[in-house]
Amino acid sequence: MIDLTGQVALVTGAARGIGRATAIALAEAGAAVVVTDLSRQVDGLTYSTATGDDLAATVAAVEAAGGRARAAVVDVRDHDALLAAVALAESELGGLDVVVANAGVASWPVSTWQATPEQWQTMIDVVLTGTWNTCRAAIPAILRTGRGGSIVMVGSTAAVKPLPTIGHYAAAKNGLIGLLKSLALELAGDSIRVNAVHPGGTGTEMTENPAAEHWQATARGVAGALALPMPIHRMEPVDVALAVRWLCSSEARYITGAQLVLDAGATLQ
Ligand SMILES: NC(=O)c1ccc[n+]([C@@H]2O[C@H](COP(=O)([O-])OP(=O)(O)OC[C@H]3O[C@@H](n4cnc5c(N)ncnc54)[C@H](O)[C@@H]3O)[C@@H](O)[C@H]2O)c1
Repeated sequence: MIDLTGQVALVTGAARGIGRATAIALAEAGAAVVVTDLSRQVDGLTYSTATGDDLAATVAAVEAAGGRARAAVVDVRDHDALLAAVALAESELGGLDVVVANAGVASWPVSTWQATPEQWQTMIDVVLTGTWNTCRAAIPAILRTGRGGSIVMVGSTAAVKPLPTIGHYAAAKNGLIGLLKSLALELAGDSIRVNAVHPGGTGTEMTENPAAEHWQATARGVAGALALPMPIHRMEPVDVALAVRWLCSSEARYITGAQLVLDAGATLQ
């Protein structure tokens, strides 16, 4: 039984999808949660990012699970907004122990070299710099508790095995791995663990929209690379959330610098 009673978590990109499922899973184990999302459209994407109503629905879902939640509108490209969310965790929930750097975006250029500079920059800014911003805002607060903590980055199987046409996404997700290894080493002495999960195709609005579905159907080699050898229809956000929660728990207390692949075997192919 995973017990996070008395712990405080902060989840980015928590208005829906994997982030929302993670906030609920952490709350079900007893953690209080600051749920954050940017609550407006990210420019240049061909699908919608989450709304303020989505973020409010996450708060309601956490409370329905018996948990305590505070919401903060945070664009992970904005370090000051992240600092404000961390301050909320400390002032209203009593500290910060767990951070899940989950916010992310997707785009599907015709090829990696034909990605527009805007597609490239948005990807690097949100996924890579956004995760770094999340860490640099949160780590001082975790250190202030004096009791260690856990950071989990949501990577992707795109960081494990190449997928055609989305090299910008793979580059950003691979960048997280360098970040996590350095942070894991630097923070080990303070008992702050830093790990990553790498989900394969998971049913969320990032993957279930016309642009993503067109990419899966038409880009050469994608459908085969994403196929799941295990006899399941698709992975759900909760499948990722439960792994994130385990990594955050004392059951994983000596695991740091690790990357956990959750893909029903897809990258074995
Ligand atoms: N769904 C998949 O198949 C899959 C596979 C591998 C990795 N991932 C990763 O999982 C994470 C969650 O994605 P998801 O599948 O739940 O998709 P999603 O689009 O449902 O959720 C992503 C959330 O991040 C938020 N977000 C986007 N840009 C932001 C910003 N600048 N600041 C703050 N929040 C921002 C969105 O509003 C949204 O709520 C992402 O990092 C994604 O790359 C997803």
